[in-house]
Amino acid sequence: MRVSLLVLLMYFSRVIGRKTPDPLGCPARCQCFSDTVPGSSAVHLVCKWEQINSTNLATLHYPDQVRTLTIRCPHHRKTPSRPPDRLFEGLRKLDRLEIDRCVIDRLPGGLFAGMQNLVSLVVKNARLPDIPQGIFDYVPNLMTLDLSGSDLRIEPFALRSLHNLIHLDLSNNSLNFLANTLGSMTKLRVLSLDYNKLTNIDFRRLPSELTDLSMRGNQITTIHYVGAGGGANTLLRLDLSGNQIDFISATGYINIFPPSLKQLDLSHNRINLVQDGSMQRMTNLLSLDLSFNTLIDAKESSFVGTEQKLKLFLRGNPLKCSCSLDWLLRSIKKGGNTILIEDLYSITCSHLVDQSRVMNLTVADLRNELLCKYTTHCDNSSCSCCDDFSCDCKSICPAGCLCYASNETREKHQNVVQCRDLHGSRLSEIPRSITALNLANAKGSWNTEKIGKLDHLHTLNISGAEISEIQGTSFDNYPKLRVIDASGNELHSIPVKLPHHIHHLRVAENPLRDFTDSEIHTLDQLHSISLGGNRTSFLCDCTSPSPFQRWIRRNRKKVVDLLSVQCELKGVGRVNMVEVLPGRHSLCDNLTEIEFGFASTASGHYSTHRATSNGAVQLTLDSGPQPTTITRSEQKKSTEDQIQRWTK
Ligand SMILES: *[C@@H]1O[C@H](CO)[C@@H](O)[C@H](O)[C@H]1NC(C)=O
Ligand SMILES: *[C@@H]1O[C@H](CO)[C@@H](O)[C@H](O)[C@H]1NC(C)=O
Ligand SMILES: *[C@@H]1O[C@H](CO)[C@@H](O)[C@H](O)[C@H]1NC(C)=O
Ligand SMILES: *[C@@H]1O[C@H](CO)[C@@H](O)[C@H](O)[C@H]1NC(C)=O
Ligand SMILES: *[C@@H]1O[C@H](CO)[C@@H](O)[C@H](O)[C@H]1NC(C)=O
Ligand SMILES: *[C@@H]1O[C@H](CO)[C@@H](O)[C@H](O)[C@H]1NC(C)=O
Ligand SMILES: *[C@@H]1O[C@H](CO)[C@@H](O)[C@H](O)[C@H]1NC(C)=O
Ligand SMILES: *[C@@H]1O[C@H](CO)[C@@H](O)[C@H](O)[C@H]1NC(C)=O
Repeated sequence: MRVSLLVLLMYFSRVIGRKTPDPLGCPARCQCFSDTVPGSSAVHLVCKWEQINSTNLATLHYPDQVRTLTIRCPHHRKTPSRPPDRLFEGLRKLDRLEIDRCVIDRLPGGLFAGMQNLVSLVVKNARLPDIPQGIFDYVPNLMTLDLSGSDLRIEPFALRSLHNLIHLDLSNNSLNFLANTLGSMTKLRVLSLDYNKLTNIDFRRLPSELTDLSMRGNQITTIHYVGAGGGANTLLRLDLSGNQIDFISATGYINIFPPSLKQLDLSHNRINLVQDGSMQRMTNLLSLDLSFNTLIDAKESSFVGTEQKLKLFLRGNPLKCSCSLDWLLRSIKKGGNTILIEDLYSITCSHLVDQSRVMNLTVADLRNELLCKYTTHCDNSSCSCCDDFSCDCKSICPAGCLCYASNETREKHQNVVQCRDLHGSRLSEIPRSITALNLANAKGSWNTEKIGKLDHLHTLNISGAEISEIQGTSFDNYPKLRVIDASGNELHSIPVKLPHHIHHLRVAENPLRDFTDSEIHTLDQLHSISLGGNRTSFLCDCTSPSPFQRWIRRNRKKVVDLLSVQCELKGVGRVNMVEVLPGRHSLCDNLTEIEFGFASTASGHYSTHRATSNGAVQLTLDSGPQPTTITRSEQKKSTEDQIQRWTK
């Protein structure tokens, strides 16, 4: 086509007998393309203008061949311009006009005069404050209109003349209110009102035959839907992501949705409640996105009712690891269920008792940590006396405590008791079969004798309970205990003679003093420990390190809060323990550098550290992303030996 058009034009110019440099008369700063469809003589223009009024379209030799015109103004240009009236009048056969980024302060009423054939009109990022009435009277055949990125505060009344419009984009304007104009646009199917300032939807104000409505990023809190005949009878897809909706209703006229919907996106709202039976009327729904809301629970009864296979999205909600979430996992396992959790592996939940513990839902399920509150609970599936008053295998929650248990028929059964007031609670009545006891922040003194033997206890939380001393023997009654959290108490020392089954000790935020040798022995037997915080009075020294300082150097990996362990460095003050450990940026480097009399070299930074009292020397080669640390025993005390250079 390009060739035949060219041939034609060459012939034409020869007949005229005049040499035309540009046979099309392509306007300045425009590129003209001929259509690639065989037999078509259509021409397409792409113009880069400084502003909407920068060059003259009148130079075109065959304006009737122009089908599409795209005008783009530069990104940076901010000064508004005003297009002349009837600017496009010559382009009678134009079917698509796009004007992008040309800031316009006022559209003349006759701008589109003569454009009977226009089907698609885009005037975006124009920052228009309003649209004159009657401006669209010239373009009665328009089917798609994009007025995004302007400053419109209300939908333009001028839209009324667009009886054939199918697709309307008014996103990124300043609409805070919808009048009745859109309701009369009977052919409108797709409407985008993203990124405006709307605060509610009333479906009666919207075209009745709409199929797609997008209102992302508004400030919508309320949806009014009065039921069948109340507008939006054929709506299939509704996108309300990024609004401020806080609940979904099952009945009434507020925050319910048209039952014709197939896709509903409510992600990034503030939904904290989906009423039971909310989906009962939504029989056509195929996809419901509730990710990134504020749901703490997701009950099955809120979502049942759809007749199709419903895809549900729930990640990014502050869900609690409650047994009411169990159905989410089952619905996937069984496969045939009508609800499919699309983002199951990204859903997280926080532990019901220890809320700072956030787990993947699937992990919580594997560990049998989806808990239910109970007053009485059967400890295992073979317990047969649960209905009797007195029963060995029945847990009864004592007064003053809260009790939670997971599914007793599965492995790793959890039975957690939380008591806040140790005086008021009947500690002697704590069920024998519990697996975790949480007395965090409890008032009153902690008395292990009162509690008695707990054969299955694996976690004891006595953090923030004003405890000033713990004996290792306090834990003799708990043969399965593995984790003790005693953070934030008044402990000056850690328990010695701790039973060997205890692997994890948390004693951060305590006024701990420097450790004795028997306490160091306790540290050795643990798998992990926390002991950071600003209340400790550990001492450290560069030339003769303390026993704890030496321990921590060998056991960095055991200390879960290594970066917040502090100590008192002679002559310097309070520092982080890691700063006096050998390695990069060690505060102790200076001393030894001066002592050994050498400093950084061009080939890398070497630091030596005369460390333990038994004479081990640590050499750190700091010449790359991974410093190499070599510890060896110091046999000869020759300086030459100490200054050995380690190169890769
Ligand atoms: C704008 O266009 C009109 C008509 O094409 C012309 O008369 C006028 O000079 C133009 N103004 C600028 C600033 O280009
Ligand atoms: C909205 O329009 C403005 C100016 O017209 C533009 O800078 C901004 O990027 C647009 N925002 C979105 C989300 O489209
Ligand atoms: C939780 O799931 C995410 C995403 O699937 C994964 O990247 C992460 O490692 C998981 N965490 C645990 C503790 O399993
Ligand atoms: C279940 O309870 C019965 C009766 O108390 C007991 O004999 C049995 O050992 C328990 N089973 C488990 C797995 O705890
Ligand atoms: C406990 O788990 C079993 C096996 O997974 C399951 O069949 C049962 O429904 C669960 N019970 C409850 C109360 O969730
Ligand atoms: C103990 O309880 C405190 C306060 O609730 C909590 O922050 C901490 O994570 C708990 N520790 C363990 C090991 O569960
Ligand atoms: C010590 O730490 C606590 C909590 O980490 C903090 O609130 C307090 O201000 C700190 N005190 C000092 C003296 O730094
Ligand atoms: C070590 O040297 C650096 C800079 O040379 C200095 O800022 C720092 O205070 C010194 N540390 C000690 C403990 O002297």
